[in-house]
Amino acid sequence: MTLETPIRSDDVTASALTSTPTQTPSHVRGLRCRACGRPEDLGPSFVCVACFGPLEVVYDHDVARERLTREAIAARPVGIWRYLELLPVAAVPERGLAVGSTALVRADRLARDLGLGTGTMLHLKDDTRNPTLSFKDRVVAVATARAVEFGFDTLACASTGNLAGATAAAAAAAGLRAFVFVPADLEPAKVEHALSYGATVVRVDGTYDDINRLSLEIADEEGWAFVNVNLRPFYAEGSKTIAFEIAEQLGWRLPDVLVGPIASGSMFTKIAKGFDELAKIGLVERKDVRFVGGQPAGCAPVATAFAEGVDEIRPVRSPDTIVRSLAIGSPADGGYALELARRTGGSIESIPDTATATAIRRTATSEGIFVETAGGVTVSAVEAARERGVIRDGDEVVAILSGNGVKTPDARRFGLVDSTDGGFADPIAATYTAFSSRYPG
Ligand SMILES: Cc1ncc(COP(=O)(O)O)c(C=O)c1O
Ligand SMILES: [Zn+2]
Repeated sequence: MTLETPIRSDDVTASALTSTPTQTPSHVRGLRCRACGRPEDLGPSFVCVACFGPLEVVYDHDVARERLTREAIAARPVGIWRYLELLPVAAVPERGLAVGSTALVRADRLARDLGLGTGTMLHLKDDTRNPTLSFKDRVVAVATARAVEFGFDTLACASTGNLAGATAAAAAAAGLRAFVFVPADLEPAKVEHALSYGATVVRVDGTYDDINRLSLEIADEEGWAFVNVNLRPFYAEGSKTIAFEIAEQLGWRLPDVLVGPIASGSMFTKIAKGFDELAKIGLVERKDVRFVGGQPAGCAPVATAFAEGVDEIRPVRSPDTIVRSLAIGSPADGGYALELARRTGGSIESIPDTATATAIRRTATSEGIFVETAGGVTVSAVEAARERGVIRDGDEVVAILSGNGVKTPDARRFGLVDSTDGGFADPIAATYTAFSSRYPG
């Protein structure tokens, strides 16, 4: 267990990574540039050599159509690997954590609290209950399986917090070494969490964007598998399992509105890709799902572009928010997230920290689910989208609760003037008389 002293993110300069072709599973065609469409062999590469655009995985949908039937899925064990033919790995990994198949909870009381209209149905995708208490276990599980298939012995990540714990745990489960890079001022609970799995936690004096640049260089120099850098095309695919599970849990239907948090924009856009693939292989009927994203007002580059009606996403140099998990000032998939919300008639909502804290308290007290700050942003975005008219009476809405409140236990108190809120009172004497006079009736 190691905690290294902070290092400065500008000690090194960025450079490109090289790719190594590898054996391609029968259900995967290879990689393709999202910008120019150039095909690329399957390998630990993430950027197009022709235009520097991001790479993504391309599947042979005929294989998925044939093998991934509703009956076949139902007969498989629970967890993300039941959708193997739409994931970029050759086989279900022998070692790994039990990820996915989280509950989809009907949230009538919260819907009422948020002022959703008559007939509007709110479901919460409860990803607070994954092995390390966030949805990051999904993306890390896929990246780790791929890292093992590529022959890496070290797993690493550039993290805003939750990814650190997920990467550290997945490495422990798979028997790999782990290095996780986090901002030096990250919440202590998240640092301890990663340390507990035996990872080396490297604290960096800089923002997430600085750490990301540093990680590019280290991945190249050390030959490590950075789950969200050189393995990003594979990592990103893991978020599609949220979409697959939602569709399956709704009885192989898609919702009217999907509400989720945006940091890099990866999860948000990959849920759309997941819905699209299910329609392509005939598992659901195609439907125009409106995509609503939430960002904290103190780091809301995508929400700002949405509000201003512009295409350019201006980086936020110094994020200022309690929502550390979403504090990415220069989001890699921000442009795609913006385009998705616009194209589908959705929205990107900017959520003040006080609203986030209120939403955390509401979700806990009305549904019994304690979310971390990203969940507060998402629930508040449901309310904002209803006020904007993007969510309408009769809609079926699914909101993604992507992280657990025990990771940010103090956040719910933010903005409260009375810190005794929430059931705390001065201690009483250990007599029934003292109790009954404090809590009469
Ligand atoms: C709890 C939680 N929710 C959502 C996100 C957003 O993920 P993405 O970068 O895919 O937008 C993060 C990212 O760190 C997170 O930790
Ligand atoms: Zn390209």
